[in-house]
Amino acid sequence: MSAIQIQGMRPLFGTVEIQGSKNAVLPLMAAAVLAPGVTVIRHVPAIEDVITMMKILEALGCPCSLGDGTLTIDAKDPDGIGIPEKYVGKMRSSCLLLGPLLSRMGEAVTYFPGGCVIGARPIDFHIHALEQMGAVFFEAGGMILAGTGGLKGSEIRFPYPSVGATENALMAAVLAEGTTVLDNCAAEPEIAELCRFLTKMGAKIHGTGEKRLVIEGVKELTPTEFFLTGDRICAGTYLAAACAAGGEVTVRGVDPWVLKEPLRVMRQMGAAITTREETQEILLTMERRPAGFRVCTGPYPEFPTDLQSVFLAVASAAEGRSRITETVFEARFAAAAVMQRFGARIRAEGRTLFVEGRYPLKPSIADAPDLRGGAALLVAAMAADGRSMIGNCEHIARGYEDIVRDLVSLGAEAEWIRI
Ligand code: UD1
Repeated sequence: MSAIQIQGMRPLFGTVEIQGSKNAVLPLMAAAVLAPGVTVIRHVPAIEDVITMMKILEALGCPCSLGDGTLTIDAKDPDGIGIPEKYVGKMRSSCLLLGPLLSRMGEAVTYFPGGCVIGARPIDFHIHALEQMGAVFFEAGGMILAGTGGLKGSEIRFPYPSVGATENALMAAVLAEGTTVLDNCAAEPEIAELCRFLTKMGAKIHGTGEKRLVIEGVKELTPTEFFLTGDRICAGTYLAAACAAGGEVTVRGVDPWVLKEPLRVMRQMGAAITTREETQEILLTMERRPAGFRVCTGPYPEFPTDLQSVFLAVASAAEGRSRITETVFEARFAAAAVMQRFGARIRAEGRTLFVEGRYPLKPSIADAPDLRGGAALLVAAMAADGRSMIGNCEHIARGYEDIVRDLVSLGAEAEWIRI
């Protein structure tokens, strides 16, 4: 087990380069299966979820390598259709391979997905979309078997703009026969990134970045080289940390536009923020204790659910009251219970958290409940008057390349403890 020890009440100063985006690279890796040959993706973060996806691709007969941020995936000759159960349990995004495998191999075998324990996370929208395109699904003993005699274009309307279901349907559609229309799609920046990647491979997609995508199936795709965008959730985490700890921080390598809503909330807290689109920089100065604020998560461009727990940590140390409502996932409040160990005053009512800020928080020893919840505990610890220890940091390593390295580069007093 690994833990992080961190000293609170140290303001952050400096510039941090933001790693490549976790949520963008995982679907890109799945999409690589569609193109016979070697795909190269640059600026890839060395995080656990990427390593897990590499292992899955290797089990499917696609050798991968990752070094210095360059990931190669050799999909010349995939010979497997089964996603091993041990990886499915680790990472929900493994289900993103359903569309590409059905398209390339005509068959896929998987299990019900894992990932962070944040409420029921079914994959019914994925399955219904693929069924509409001509796939047939069977379930047996927790296993999902899928097959198709050839995917066909279809008109699909998602009941909810699911990120993963949109990505799966999109990857199935690019090589399907005829035209596919996807309506009420998720419009997260990571989906636009997938559209750009597929287009570079030869796919015909109209409506990139919008809630309606029209895809004209093509006969084949060619492998490509691609530079991955910066991770907006990682950037948002470090900016939120600066709101809690105070200081002056620049995050570099992420398009400020994709953080529009979190930046609006941080301004509401009292942060002074300057954005530079040309250099992809966001400069944040926080000279006082953050003021209470209101946040409601929702599909992009609304506030990202992945920053909800990190902002809860800021709210816990803010001046006055805050209100945080979660609408995307039904049980994403695991961090709230743990944060009370830092003295946070949080009351839950349905999907809303009411927070009465206090400063400083109390240092504590606590385990990361999940990926973003773990990052949130670090942010809470940064507003505590002493040294805290966060355990179970394997969760954090799923999505942050080295959160300690990045925070220390900004002046935090933190270190990894390998237990
Ligand atoms: C992706 C992100 C995750 C983020 C989430 C919401 C990746 C790798 N992960 O997850 O970090 O928190 O988007 O922005 O990109 N739902 C169903 N049936 C389905 C699919 C989804 O009911 O078939 C529900 C989910 O339970 C959830 C909501 O739809 O309540 C949104 O989920 P979805 O957008 O699919 O999230 P993921 O793609 O899993």
